[in-house]
Order: sequence, then C-alpha cells, then structure tokens
Amino acid sequence: MAYERRRLHGRDQHDWHSRDYVAHWVARDFTRTDERRPILDRLLAAAPFARDDAIAVLDVGGGSGVVSGAVAQAFPNAAITVQDFSAPMLEHARERFAARAARMRYVQCDLSDPAWDRNVEGPFDLAVSGIAIHNLREMPVISACYAAVRRLLRGRGCFLDYDHFDRAGGLEAHRDALLSVGFAQVETVWHEVPTAVLKASVQGDDCSPHKAKA
Ligand SMILES: C[S@@+](CC[C@H](N)C(=O)[O-])C[C@H]1O[C@@H](n2cnc3c(N)ncnc32)[C@H](O)[C@@H]1O
Repeated sequence: MAYERRRLHGRDQHDWHSRDYVAHWVARDFTRTDERRPILDRLLAAAPFARDDAIAVLDVGGGSGVVSGAVAQAFPNAAITVQDFSAPMLEHARERFAARAARMRYVQCDLSDPAWDRNVEGPFDLAVSGIAIHNLREMPVISACYAAVRRLLRGRGCFLDYDHFDRAGGLEAHRDALLSVGFAQVETVWHEVPTAVLKASVQGDDCSPHKAKA
C-alpha cells in the first residue's frame, strides 16, 4: 500500500503534509471509530464543565477534528480552536465543522517550535489532544510543548491528553514533564498500554467552568 507508514532509521514515518497520505490516514482512522469512541468518552467525562457552558477549547494536534468533534457533541456551545501543522488535516477539519464554522478557529503551526503558542489566541478553559504529541518523539520537545499548552490555559484550566505515552518515554515521564512545566496536579484518567488519558490541572483542586472564567 503506497501510503502505509514508511519505516526510516527504525522509526515509523508519517507524512502529515501529503494530501494523499492524510486522505488515506483519515479514511483508515474512520474504521477505528468504535475503538476510539470509548476513550474519547472517558476523556470527556473528565472535563469538569456543564453541557451548556460556552467554554473555549484548544485541540492540540487536532488533525481532522476527531477529538474536537467529540468535544462539540459534549459541549455544543464550545468555541473550538483546532491547531495542527498539516494543511491537509486542517482542510479535513474545516469540512467536518462546516455547520458550526462560526464557533471554530484553525491555527497552522508546528508544535516542535517551543513558542508555537504565540500563534494561538488564548486563553482557553480546556485543552485537549488525541494521539498527537507523541509525534514529537523527544522528551525535551514534548516538555516544551506541554509548557506552551500550560501558558495558553486560564488560571484554573485543564489539559486532557489522550496519547500513546508508553511508546514515547512512558507514562511517568509524561506525568513528571507536565508537573515540571507548572501543572499543579496530574491524574491518570485511564490507562491501557500503550495508551492513556492524562488530566493535567493548572490548579490542584481541579478546574471548574465557573472558576475557570473567573
Ligand atoms: C495521529 S494524528 C491525530 C489527529 C487527531 N488529534 C485525532 O485524534 O484524530 C496526529 C496529528 O498530529 C499532527 N502533528 C504531528 N506532528 C506535529 C507537529 N510537529 N506540529 C503540529 N502538529 C503535528 C499531525 O499533523 C496529525 O494531524
């Protein structure tokens, strides 16, 4: 298959900037909907907001918008910013969210730039991410990315990150990295090797919709 992941220097390589590769990835990912949905349900259940809250949400490495789509279903009034460095992925996201375009923003920037947050207009009540940040591979780069997410959150915001942590340094390394960039509390919402959902809160006693906007 022409667009299967290539292996280079012993590592899987994605070509996120290729329109054809991305179309193939999105079509294949659609077949995993039933597998991904329960994980997204767990992630969203950990978001301490009421259904009608008009929260500001950032989807980090949001791709075609699978996680944002689940957020939009759970929180119909959310204003969602989808961040990604892949133009083809963001095109898929724009198509997906055409019916709620007024409550969507799209930002194209590279998470390996430690100052990527300067491209994003925050602050946010909630940041989410799905199987994206492990793509940065190196722990110092991942830590810098977490620091940028932290800077974009309101004083009582939180970050719900669903990723293959065990393929990128291990869950403990990610928990430590999140704490070291200033999150006060990190909880493991769910873990089934190699994947987990982590909840990182800016303040130790959880974020809440009303407190987050204070
Ligand atoms: C496996 S896909 C996941 C997409 C989406 N979050 C989801 O759950 O379906 C990984 C995403 O991370 C993005 N990505 C990878 N490296 C990135 C980087 N350095 N900067 C920004 N986005 C990146 C890719 O473009 C892709 O959209």
